Amino acid sequence: MNQVNNNIIPLSVAPMMDWTDRHCRYFHRLITPNSLLYTEMITTGALIHGNKNRFLHFSKEEKPLALQLGGSDPKALAQCAKMGENYGYDEINLNCGCPSNRVQKAMIGAIMMKKPDTVAKCVEKIAKTVNIPVTVKCRIGIDEFDSFEFLNDFVSKVKNAGCTTFVIHARKCWLHGLNPKENRTKPKIDYERAAQIKAAHPELNIVVNGDIKTPDEIKGHLKKFDGTMIGREAYQNPYLLAALEQNIFNNDKIKSRKEIALEMIPYIEKQMKDYDIPVKSITRHMIGLFQGMSGAKKWRQALSALPHEKGADANVIKEALRFIR
Ligand SMILES: Cc1cc2nc3c(=O)[nH]c(=O)nc-3n(C[C@H](O)[C@H](O)[C@H](O)COP(=O)(O)O)c2cc1C
Repeated sequence: MNQVNNNIIPLSVAPMMDWTDRHCRYFHRLITPNSLLYTEMITTGALIHGNKNRFLHFSKEEKPLALQLGGSDPKALAQCAKMGENYGYDEINLNCGCPSNRVQKAMIGAIMMKKPDTVAKCVEKIAKTVNIPVTVKCRIGIDEFDSFEFLNDFVSKVKNAGCTTFVIHARKCWLHGLNPKENRTKPKIDYERAAQIKAAHPELNIVVNGDIKTPDEIKGHLKKFDGTMIGREAYQNPYLLAALEQNIFNNDKIKSRKEIALEMIPYIEKQMKDYDIPVKSITRHMIGLFQGMSGAKKWRQALSALPHEKGADANVIKEALRFIR
């Protein structure tokens, strides 16, 4: 059985496809040295048949870092988990919460909640193959399966296969009729169902996710849960992570927004030089850095335009900073 991790990190930034790539994670890490970061979901097909270095490479500064996998074949998942372990990831997370049409056709994501025995087999095989924790991210329900009993059956079977940490996005999803974006706002969030799971399985680590935006909300959740995961708000308003560093990790050595922007310059220069990464692929994650501050709109406009110009380089940061007093 996977070891119960009693040192669970109380705050993580959610896996978000097209958003939490390695550049975004490097940026987030400058703001929050202590939280757990996640990759975007990577499917077993992409890893086995594609350019695995492109998907798995990361900067050591991003750690602690969890690799999220999407798939339903135990052997393929175990193979990919091993690759992740060899690359130095700290955790393997299995996606059982993504409702997109494309992935459900491939038996990936939320649809897996309807196949708890398959998920159990996947977890068991991964846990036998790697020596890092194996965790599962799921919803509280799916389609007409919207009850404590359904979720409890899923969690119990997957727990028996060796999973000791569940990230529960406390909103059920509809596989038909709602697109992934709508499935993040409808139907209503239900933290209570996730809390009932924690009460029924006190030995499990339960990380709650969904619509969490403030330090106070997180502190409230940490009275019932072992951890909290924050998604859209961390991406759109990344400096929130600094307030969370102070409030959740009692870290009083946080960097200012300007320091963070300036620290991205050498990173951008290195990424451009070593990997030919366009500056816009990195700066796009920084657009919300000054949210709520004077000059934020001009910073946003500058970072939305300048990195797209021919010959743009890391100096776009300094140019955009001119709008910040
Ligand atoms: C753009 C975007 C991409 C996402 N991609 C993934 C993904 O790859 N894997 C996953 O488990 N969840 C994914 N999610 C869901 C988030 O991890 C999270 O569960 C959801 O946004 C709810 O948390 P929040 O209300 O704090 O944003 C994605 C969400 C967004 C907004």
